Amino acid sequence: MGCTTFSVANLKGGCGKSTLALNLAAGLMVRGRTVLLDADPQGTLAHWTNHEGVVGMPHVVAAGASLSRAIRSASSEYRYMVVDCPPTLESGHTETVLKMADIVLIPVLPSPPDLWSSTHMVEAVKGARSINPGLRAYFVRNQVEPRSALSQAMRQALRSCGLPSLESTLGRRAAYRWAALEGISVYQFGARGKKAVSDIESVIEEVFNHD
Ligand SMILES: Nc1ncnc2c1ncn2[C@@H]1O[C@H](COP(=O)(O)OP(=O)(O)O)[C@@H](O)[C@H]1O
Ligand SMILES: [Mg+2]
Repeated sequence: MGCTTFSVANLKGGCGKSTLALNLAAGLMVRGRTVLLDADPQGTLAHWTNHEGVVGMPHVVAAGASLSRAIRSASSEYRYMVVDCPPTLESGHTETVLKMADIVLIPVLPSPPDLWSSTHMVEAVKGARSINPGLRAYFVRNQVEPRSALSQAMRQALRSCGLPSLESTLGRRAAYRWAALEGISVYQFGARGKKAVSDIESVIEEVFNHD
C-alpha cells in the first residue's frame, strides 16, 4: 500500500497547525509507520519533540530546504506522512506541499478575522488542484468551546468560502498546551489527554471515511 500524505496548512500563525500536525502524526502512528515533516523554517516541531526515547512519538524530519525531495523519499518508506507547513505562501513551501499531498487540513480558530484570512488558503488549494486534482481539503475548526453556536455558524460561513469543514473539531483544551510543554503528544498524556485524543481520533476517522 502506498503512502497517504496529510498536510496541515494555513496562512495564519497560531491557528494550531503544529498542534494538529504533531498529534495527528501520533494518532496515525498507531495505524502504520508514520513520519512528520517540518516544512516550517521556524522549526517548531524540532523544539517540541526533544523527547528522546518517548515511545509512540513521531519521528520528525526538518525538511525546509529540500522539501520535495524529502516528501518523495519519505513516501517510499512510510505508510503515513504528515507535513506541517509554514504560515506563508512566500517561501513556496506550502505550494510545493499542496501539489504533492493527498489531503490538506486547514485549522481555523472560531473568529471572524481567522475566517476571512482563510479565503487565501482556498485560492492556494484551487491553484494546487490544477496540478494535483485529487487534493482533498478540509477546514478543521480548532479551539472550539463546548456548545458554541459560533462554531456551527463558522462551519456554514466556511462552506461559503468554497471548502468543506470536518464535522470533527478540536476543543479548546489545556491538554494540548501541557502536552506541548512536556514535549509529547496528547497520546502520551494518559488520562489528562483523553478528550484531546478523542478529538484527534475523530478527525482521523472522519478523513478516512470521507471520499
Ligand atoms: N485546541 C487547542 N486548545 C488549547 N490550546 C491550543 C489548541 N490548539 C493550539 N493551541 C495552542 O495555541 C498555540 C498556537 O498553536 P500552534 O499549533 O503552535 O499554531 P501554529 O503552528 O499554527 O502557529 C500554542 O500555544 C498551542 O499550544
Ligand atoms: Mg507552527
